[in-house]
Amino acid sequence: MGLFKRQHTSDALTDPNTLLQRGQSLTLPEPETFVMDTFDPPPYYQRVREAVQQRLLERKIEVRLGEMEEGRRLIQPILDEVLAEEGIIATRRDKERLLNMVAADILGYGPIQPLLDDPDITEVMVNGPKHVYVERKGKLMKAPVRFVDDDHVMRIVERIVAPLGRRVDESSPMVDARLPDGSRVNIIIPPLALNGPCITIRKFFRRRLSMDDLIRFGSVTPEFAKFAEAAVKARLNIIVSGGTGSGKTTLLNILSGFIPDDERIVTIEDAAELQLQQEHVVRLEARPPNIEGKGAIRIRDLVINALRMRPDRIVVGEVRGGEALDMLQAMNTGHDGSLTTLHSNGPRDTLARLETMVLMAGMDLPLRAIRQQISSAVDLIIHVSRLRDGSRKVVAVSEVLGMEGDTILLQDIFTFDIEGFREGKVVGRLRPTGIRPRVVERMAEHNIHLGPEIFGLPV
Ligand SMILES: Nc1ncnc2c1ncn2[C@@H]1O[C@H](COP(=O)(O)OP(=O)(O)O)[C@@H](O)[C@H]1O
Ligand SMILES: [Mg+2]
Repeated sequence: MGLFKRQHTSDALTDPNTLLQRGQSLTLPEPETFVMDTFDPPPYYQRVREAVQQRLLERKIEVRLGEMEEGRRLIQPILDEVLAEEGIIATRRDKERLLNMVAADILGYGPIQPLLDDPDITEVMVNGPKHVYVERKGKLMKAPVRFVDDDHVMRIVERIVAPLGRRVDESSPMVDARLPDGSRVNIIIPPLALNGPCITIRKFFRRRLSMDDLIRFGSVTPEFAKFAEAAVKARLNIIVSGGTGSGKTTLLNILSGFIPDDERIVTIEDAAELQLQQEHVVRLEARPPNIEGKGAIRIRDLVINALRMRPDRIVVGEVRGGEALDMLQAMNTGHDGSLTTLHSNGPRDTLARLETMVLMAGMDLPLRAIRQQISSAVDLIIHVSRLRDGSRKVVAVSEVLGMEGDTILLQDIFTFDIEGFREGKVVGRLRPTGIRPRVVERMAEHNIHLGPEIFGLPV
């Protein structure tokens, strides 16, 4: 912080969450009741499931993964048979639940299958067998489902990773994977995870959000939308920054949508999340090391390779390390209009993190040279934040003006002002600071002219 001038931007002031911590109290609404059937697996559950599975095998009845309806029809009579033989008396309702559970275990992802099917749920978190949480409509809550034990969780883990030719065991206890629908999965198991096997799933959103959605949600203003579109079309180098799950990738995706159709775009990601609609897009995805720890292709390798592919634009899903240097160099050498995201707490922090990442490239560059590089490469920082009420908003837009001495000068163009809280919601607005930004000249060079009202200036 001390490295930078404070008067231009203070992250503490642009992060609404920080503001909230200073005395203002925010009462959150009562958690919504989770309408889902709670059903703890009965003690005989595993035995019954195994018996059903055994009989399916013996009778060569093929059930296909994912084919729930068909599978249930095939499983039902066998389940009834097993229950009868075991002398288990269950109500019709419990039988129905049992069938759901057995079917989900055999055909899907077990107890978390209904959570994956619920379109309101965006994330599913399994912290060992007995504690499953979800994010539903932006709120974290406990889900009324449980696994029987660690082994039960591991069977589902197996089901997730086996089709990808991966395995999770003591020798590789942490794995990133993807479900067939594109959802991202992280798995970490004991002894590293003390709660038992943990699964974290970030669901893939079939319908990608648009700028209009963001306006409707109150995440951005129409003025911001016009400005952002102009910024992309005018080939500004833009960094979208924010915390985990704040909506960086979503915004990057929307911004990328403004890239004109006649440009060649190369996207580079850890796990392909971007869904560009343009035709001329080359998509590259990094590769984690294999079980022997070999064969990794880093984001950095892909950025370097992309530069040889005659790109008009490079879109990097997220910079985390040394690739920041290559990205900056690309931005500085004719690949302007590049876009990326980065994890940070505010626009100032974004600059500080970039600096650290460039150092990670191991080039031993003097700090001043790094800052020079950053300040001439980056034009715009758009910072997003997930507020305490669960809403995701653009909370700051800052332009990089250049260097003054050893300091990078930042100037806010839009900042989010909190006006208060109503019914547990943050009330506020992303307002222009009333400054005519420098970048309007770059826009003018591309024949894009924004009215003064966008910036809160007199018309
Ligand atoms: N403005 C928004 N309003 C509501 N939900 C959003 C918004 N932006 C993103 N999301 C949702 O939030 C989740 C995290 O978004 P993502 O863009 O992946 O965050 P990040 O890249 O910062 O980790 C996703 O489920 C996404 O659909
Ligand atoms: Mg992301």
